[in-house]
Amino acid sequence: MQDQQHGFIGINLLAFWILPLTNKTEDVIAAQRAMDFLIGWYAYPLVYGDYPDVMKKNLGSRLPAFTNFESNLVKGSFDFLGLNYYAMLYIKDDSSKLNMEVRDFNADMAIELTAIPNDISVNKFSTAPWGLQELLEYFKQAYGNPPIYIHENGHQTPHNSSLEDEPRVNYLHGHIGALLDALRNGSNTRGYFQWSFLDLFELLGGFESSFGLYYVDVDDPDLKRQPKLSAQWYSHFLKTKGAGSDGFIILEKNLTEFSHAHFSR
Ligand SMILES: *[C@@H]1O[C@H](CO)[C@@H](O)[C@H](O)[C@H]1NC(C)=O
Ligand SMILES: *[C@@H]1O[C@H](CO)[C@@H](O)[C@H](O)[C@H]1NC(C)=O
Ligand SMILES: *[C@@H]1O[C@H](CO)[C@@H](O)[C@H](O)[C@H]1NC(C)=O
Repeated sequence: MQDQQHGFIGINLLAFWILPLTNKTEDVIAAQRAMDFLIGWYAYPLVYGDYPDVMKKNLGSRLPAFTNFESNLVKGSFDFLGLNYYAMLYIKDDSSKLNMEVRDFNADMAIELTAIPNDISVNKFSTAPWGLQELLEYFKQAYGNPPIYIHENGHQTPHNSSLEDEPRVNYLHGHIGALLDALRNGSNTRGYFQWSFLDLFELLGGFESSFGLYYVDVDDPDLKRQPKLSAQWYSHFLKTKGAGSDGFIILEKNLTEFSHAHFSR
């Protein structure tokens, strides 16, 4: 089929880089387990034709089993994986959840999140850029380096905060830098999409929180737009064709200098 219609078809996964809160063995194992539950549930069948072992173990007969036919059908049935990546999560082991009477996804995963994925307060996440590099390295090593597109990556600020959004510039600069580091080490990442071009209605934050490079005045009937510092930075980044001796794009070294030069209001 694929040969006939020349499609290039993939699936999008919400991805976090997950770290153990302590270096205790049970927490380190719990972090691996959380990666298997949150990402492996989808990625493992696609790459290996089966669910991760730890899911089979913790769910037992409640997890459907693939027949050989289904396994062969799903295995390798993607051309790329799309990732939405925003932050790292710190977790610790909570094996007591395996004794709960009602065993749902979270009980089976048996961890305690120290940051909660559906909490929109961004401060609960760690947004150190190396989380993205680690995640891409993980896909390289654990999943045979499939073609990856980063479908979403960006930084949240309150909608009415300053147009001089240095935290977003720092975030994008850091994460694009982390992507470059991953590429230099052999990651098969093929594309990067910044979320989002404009402030818009967010799934979890409505109009109160924004990821846009452009501010949108939602009280103005014309929905007037204004570029933030991050729009200037991203535009400058896209226009700069400069490449280092290794062939990769060069990022500015000094963001303070950049913001002084491009944002004199
Ligand atoms: C780079 O790739 C090698 C080989 O896959 C791996 O052993 C190493 O940990 C990677 N380094 C980083 C910084 O990710
Ligand atoms: C900030 O945004 C909210 C809606 O998101 C609005 O109700 C409020 O008036 C705004 N405040 C300012 C100072 O613009
Ligand atoms: C960046 O530029 C600013 C303003 O010119 C300067 O004060 C600062 O020391 C520079 N930082 C670095 C790391 O070079």
